[in-house]
Amino acid sequence: MKTINTIARMSTLAKMLRKEGKTVGFVPTMGYLHDGHISLVKAARKHTDVVVISVFVNPAQFGPKEDLEKYPRDPKRDETMSAQAGVDIMFCPTAKEMYPDGYSTYVAVEGVSQVMCGASRPSHFRGVTTVVAKLFGIVKPDIAYFGQKDAQQAIIIKKMASDLDMDIEIKVMPTVRERDGLAMSSRNTYLSEAERRDAVVLNQALKRAESLVSAGEKKAAVIKEEIRKMIAETATAKIDYIALVDPQDLKELETIGKEALIALAVFFGRTRLIDNTIVHPRTFVEGNTCKGAGVKV
Ligand code: PAJ
Repeated sequence: MKTINTIARMSTLAKMLRKEGKTVGFVPTMGYLHDGHISLVKAARKHTDVVVISVFVNPAQFGPKEDLEKYPRDPKRDETMSAQAGVDIMFCPTAKEMYPDGYSTYVAVEGVSQVMCGASRPSHFRGVTTVVAKLFGIVKPDIAYFGQKDAQQAIIIKKMASDLDMDIEIKVMPTVRERDGLAMSSRNTYLSEAERRDAVVLNQALKRAESLVSAGEKKAAVIKEEIRKMIAETATAKIDYIALVDPQDLKELETIGKEALIALAVFFGRTRLIDNTIVHPRTFVEGNTCKGAGVKV
């Protein structure tokens, strides 16, 4: 595995790979890798000739009071894990080169960036789309891989790639979880023992929502109230939002039609965690046979 630190070297290599007719799979990350990130690498390994991972803690997506300084970092471990997972190129640019003095161009996807996490973290997605657009320009991938764990982010990136005719396929891979159901996240390391125990309620509440939908419940208010009650029972949790939305445009739904994205953001102490699921209600077809009941994770 090659590690590259400058934009010029990465860009030149990307051009060479294209010339050679190689397909490039790209996994953008902020490092402190876990099995969620590695699942994206493995998918890229399967589908493309050359796998590039980027590790860059992007200052533009952190608010002034957020955790940029203390965001966990372990470049050596990231390197070992990436090499073991079959990454060919690890791209680790510096903030100085990504955002030199006088930097002034930003990419913003309107609408879908302003709700849910965008409402709680106003400039967050503008930072994400800006860095991802820059990384796409440098790495020039054929396919880029994102996790369903950050469902809103994946939807926004897809919209950006389509609106800006980027000619990059965006693949979204399932959420990887700890044994007890907690979605893997670099931020899980911030949790105290009690917070870590409480944090499983995210997955449990989503599972409960899934079974309500499987049992025929379609009213968003009923499902959200059930989730709210479950989370309220844990000592360290404070709800940021519970959203039940259309997974295409993130518009709030009152009743579930074809499918719905149920997404949660909850503080455990000072750590804000997110999780989500996509639910499909029971659909009845002729002859009263029940088809499609259940859930896609
Ligand atoms: P980061 O949080 O490091 O995540 C990098 C990628 O890994 C994202 O696509 C994210 O959705 C995915 N991921 C994280 N946890 C996952 C899990 N448990 N299961 C499956 N996939 C998971 O997301 C970012 O970085 C940044 O915003 C970035 C896109 C790199 C832009 O800076």
